[in-house]
Amino acid sequence: MVNKITVVGAGNVGATTAQRIAEKELARTVVMVDVMEGIPEGKGLDQWQSAPIEGFDARVIGTNGYEEAHDSDIVVITAGIARKPGMSRDDLLNTNAGIVKQVSEQIKSTSPHAILIVVSNPLDVMCYVAMKVTGFPRQRILGMAGVLDTARYRAFLAEALDVSVRDIQAMVLGGHGDTMVPLISYTSVSGIPITQLMTQAKLNAIVERTRGGGAEIVKHLKTGSAYYAPSSAAVQMCESIVLDQKRILPCAAWLEGEYGMSGLFLGVPCKLGRSGLEKIIEVELTREERDALAKSADAVREPMGAVKL
Ligand code: APR
Repeated sequence: MVNKITVVGAGNVGATTAQRIAEKELARTVVMVDVMEGIPEGKGLDQWQSAPIEGFDARVIGTNGYEEAHDSDIVVITAGIARKPGMSRDDLLNTNAGIVKQVSEQIKSTSPHAILIVVSNPLDVMCYVAMKVTGFPRQRILGMAGVLDTARYRAFLAEALDVSVRDIQAMVLGGHGDTMVPLISYTSVSGIPITQLMTQAKLNAIVERTRGGGAEIVKHLKTGSAYYAPSSAAVQMCESIVLDQKRILPCAAWLEGEYGMSGLFLGVPCKLGRSGLEKIIEVELTREERDALAKSADAVREPMGAVKL
């Protein structure tokens, strides 16, 4: 375990993330920071009081300031507004950019050595805002999107094939939006290529459902967006870092020539260990996958150029 993990935003994603981190005892202290008066304090107390039942020794604290968050090892940023039906992630752009900017300034001054995991949307652009404001190296800024998109894809595949979710290996790359790129050539069931088990038409339908996976949930919830799977995904990234597992997970990372691209955050396979992003793995892509990744990068560059800092 590390000494301290802070989760900024004590809303649906943030509070669920904090609880999962505490239950896994990834940090001695878990701090939740939110601007809403009373909410982080109340949720923090409530979570901590589940400790004797769940059997964890992490101390959860909720607060409105950054004093308790001082010198965090990892900071997960979930602050911002969530989507309502009919909204795209890009509709959140300027509101959340202002929030992530303010949060990043605080983190820079109170936890200058922290590894940041950004969850706020539009994800790839919010990672860019956090990097611009903090000036942290790319090893210490990661975006959570690919683990979630891949989990949705794996869940849909497991259901369609009537097999365990555990046996589905897959990877979704690209931006966290409609242009995300599920890699069919790297999708397998216990090593069996997916194309041997499913028709192309069925696979295409699952890829489309994955692309709209977030919107499907927003449509049901009406008042907000998904948080159980997003928090699981953020915590899996934390776990790989805290325990130095060196897992290879699809995360948004700052590209410096990888996949022939530079100067943007995009979902790519990343090795996560104690120092954060330890390596970007470059895999061979089919021509269609390469074209789709380039298109996805364009879809990230557009709001990135429009964001006001
Ligand atoms: N500092 C700290 N917390 C803030 C700030 C700020 N400057 N501004 C807003 N918040 C808090 C809100 O008070 C709220 O409690 O962020 C929290 C957001 O919680 P929810 O509205 O429940 O939204 P949630 O579903 O958690 O989504 C948060 O994650 O998945 C993304 O698209 C989603 O951008 C959204 C973010």
